[in-house]
Amino acid sequence: MILSIDDLRELAKKRIPRAIFDYAAVGAYAERTLLRNTADLDAMTFRQRVMIDVSKVSLATTMAGTPASMPLAIGPTGLAGLFHADGEILAARAAAACGIPYCMSTMSICSIEDVRAATPQPFWFQQYLMKDRGFNQELIDRAAAAQCSALMLTLDLQVLGERRRDPRNGLTIPPRLTLRNTWDMATKPSWALKVLFGKRRTFGNLAGRIGGSSGFRTLAEWTAAQFDASANWRDVEWVRSRWPGKLILKGVLDADDARFGLAAGADAIVVSNHGGRQLDGAPSSISVLPEIVAAIDGRCEVMFDGGIRSGQDIAKALALGARGTLIGRSFLYALAAAGEAGVTKAIDIMRNELRVTLALTGTSTIGAVGPHILRMPA
Ligand SMILES: Cc1cc2nc3c(=O)[nH]c(=O)nc-3n(C[C@H](O)[C@H](O)[C@H](O)COP(=O)(O)O)c2cc1C
Repeated sequence: MILSIDDLRELAKKRIPRAIFDYAAVGAYAERTLLRNTADLDAMTFRQRVMIDVSKVSLATTMAGTPASMPLAIGPTGLAGLFHADGEILAARAAAACGIPYCMSTMSICSIEDVRAATPQPFWFQQYLMKDRGFNQELIDRAAAAQCSALMLTLDLQVLGERRRDPRNGLTIPPRLTLRNTWDMATKPSWALKVLFGKRRTFGNLAGRIGGSSGFRTLAEWTAAQFDASANWRDVEWVRSRWPGKLILKGVLDADDARFGLAAGADAIVVSNHGGRQLDGAPSSISVLPEIVAAIDGRCEVMFDGGIRSGQDIAKALALGARGTLIGRSFLYALAAAGEAGVTKAIDIMRNELRVTLALTGTSTIGAVGPHILRMPA
């Protein structure tokens, strides 16, 4: 019985190889920040209210100008197409059917054009700053041609955080059958048939840019060679000048950086530590959300990600001032567990959890959510 994101996670574990599952689950170094993201959310408690008319609860809102049936978007995750064949297409379709935004990563398996051709609704597109600005421009042009409704620029991966489970598991892109993983893959026949031997197995957006044979080591090397460690706020302004639509800056964890992002022309910023995958020892996203909301002071939208595993977590982030939230792992586990139906299920689970939580805190609309629905942790 699938009743929670945890249930989807357990199912995912049974359906996909260990190396792929761990690629999602992993955090940087000792995974302290990864753990803090969920622990700090869990430590918050709600203020229960009674005898308030909550017969009509509305979750509708907008995020970066995109109408959303609830304050949730699917965040950008690389390699989604390895969790399920055509993963990015299925994600975009599920999000469109549920009325929430989907953000596609540059590091996807399906290409931006594949997803555009398969979905009726415009989606968001995420990119990093590359040394070769020509490639950034090319991606911007492709996003514009695909009528993407927002561009998300991720700022927190100038260098790649070390995620130790990946080299230990021998993760390669495309995935390869080796002596070590044969048994693991043989016990996931559906995944093996559709992904291991499927037609899309490597980075769809990087065709012609990543060398022919690419192990994970090569990806790490490719990242080091391509991602621009010298990028600065002028480069963000450069992207701003090239993209006329909504610009979302993702990966802000500090009030000063939030102000810089605003000055660089952000329409929205995402308070994020990349799901604990970059700087281990950084604070949890939720612990810094209030100071960033205060620094931005309503001048652009503030979104949130990091540790969201339920509609209750969404309510907590909104209570601390987030306009909307993004999910990474909750989405990937659902996708791995049951493809498009799994993603739809995850969104439905979170929607119901959010609706019930708002009702039991005496709240009927997203606009009415505020710090008053929380009892602050000690
Ligand atoms: C497997 C995986 C791949 C990711 N790939 C990207 C990416 O390509 N671009 C990006 O901006 N963020 C990426 N992220 C970070 C997510 O967008 C998001 O910030 C993070 O997952 C939020 O934490 P959560 O997983 O606890 O929800 C990735 C996260 C995971 C788990």
